[in-house]
Amino acid sequence: MRVLVVGGGAREHALAWRLRRDGHAVWAAPGNAGMAADARLVPVEAADAPGLLAVCGRESIDLAVIGPEAPLVAGVADRLRAGGTPVLAPGAAAARIEGSKAWAMGFCRRHGIPAPATSVCATAAEALAHASSCALPVAVKADGLMAGKGVVVAADRPAAVAAAEAFAARGPVVFEEYLAGREVSAFALCDGRRAAFCGLARDHKRLLDGDRGPMTGGMGAFSPVPDVDPGAEAAIRAILDAAVAGMAAEGAPFVGFLFAGLMLTDRGPRVLEFNCRLGDPEAQALLPLWAGDVAEPCLAAARGALDPADAPRPMPGAAVGVVLACPGYPEAPAPGQSVPGLDADGRLAVPPDGALIFHAATVRRDGWRTAGGRVLTCVGRGPGLAEARRRAYAAAEAVRFAGARMRADMAAY
Ligand code: GLY
Repeated sequence: MRVLVVGGGAREHALAWRLRRDGHAVWAAPGNAGMAADARLVPVEAADAPGLLAVCGRESIDLAVIGPEAPLVAGVADRLRAGGTPVLAPGAAAARIEGSKAWAMGFCRRHGIPAPATSVCATAAEALAHASSCALPVAVKADGLMAGKGVVVAADRPAAVAAAEAFAARGPVVFEEYLAGREVSAFALCDGRRAAFCGLARDHKRLLDGDRGPMTGGMGAFSPVPDVDPGAEAAIRAILDAAVAGMAAEGAPFVGFLFAGLMLTDRGPRVLEFNCRLGDPEAQALLPLWAGDVAEPCLAAARGALDPADAPRPMPGAAVGVVLACPGYPEAPAPGQSVPGLDADGRLAVPPDGALIFHAATVRRDGWRTAGGRVLTCVGRGPGLAEARRRAYAAAEAVRFAGARMRADMAAY
């Protein structure tokens, strides 16, 4: 199969690596320097629908997979589909499940999907009034896309008011009942009518060990998640099924990877958000674990004909991904450091057993250098989380550059 991966982060590198490993020819638009060993890079941005259409035609692409949310919310998948390419990704109508948190929480209510109690404030005045009187703590969210940085859990009144003020400048503000518990990310491959469960992962969005410090795009992830018992997993699968059925019933069938961000509460899992794509860094942990040829079920889903029995599902074993970010990330990233331990193709020069490396922001200049906030995801695979973790950190030590920001407690159970 000839597959186009759209996007240029470590999630897209993991997709390209996996598709190539499964024997497919892979193009990446725009990709990144570290993906060149796994994909042919084409200098077309993920938002450039006419440019992507031209690539699909020129390279006779059989399947396009779009990684990041912004082009999905902007309707890039619709444009490619209209041009005749099978696309594993939702169109704009279905991507709204991520593009508007207010809409997504209303959707949960309409379809009986368990979610926190929510208030949506359309204006800054309403948001400030609500922040000044609501129960605390409260989760304050920007309605639209914020690259993972649109949520503040406010423990006190000044924090709630400050978050409301900041987010109201960008549009509606969503206030959600605070839920205590552990978070989990759940994924299903969807063909518009069916949701085929394909695994759980947990990411860590805060910069510092112990889930402290500022929110980031994600500092690492692991799979499987040992504290999800069979009862909770069954409830999570039912949520994914209900979401796909609900989207179809509302005339916006969801095709692609549906990602439910959930809180495990003592009353069962509750949806904190839906995303319309694979998670980053969850994808870097999940993709190496999936059995079989990943492209075939993706193409079947893109064509609306997925057999759930063929969906990607995790093999026994575990994977842990650890992100290395550049100094100053996330507030003021200051890239440019030399990255040791990589060969000319950007792979680990001396790979620890079961270790992989996925690039997000590197350039080749006198060897390899950092070129952005989150730079690399180092992934360890093993029979269980402990060994996978040991291998991930061995890989991370091999490529650790000056001033790298990295959590030391990924999957530390
Ligand atoms: N890891 C969370 C996200 O991809 O949004």
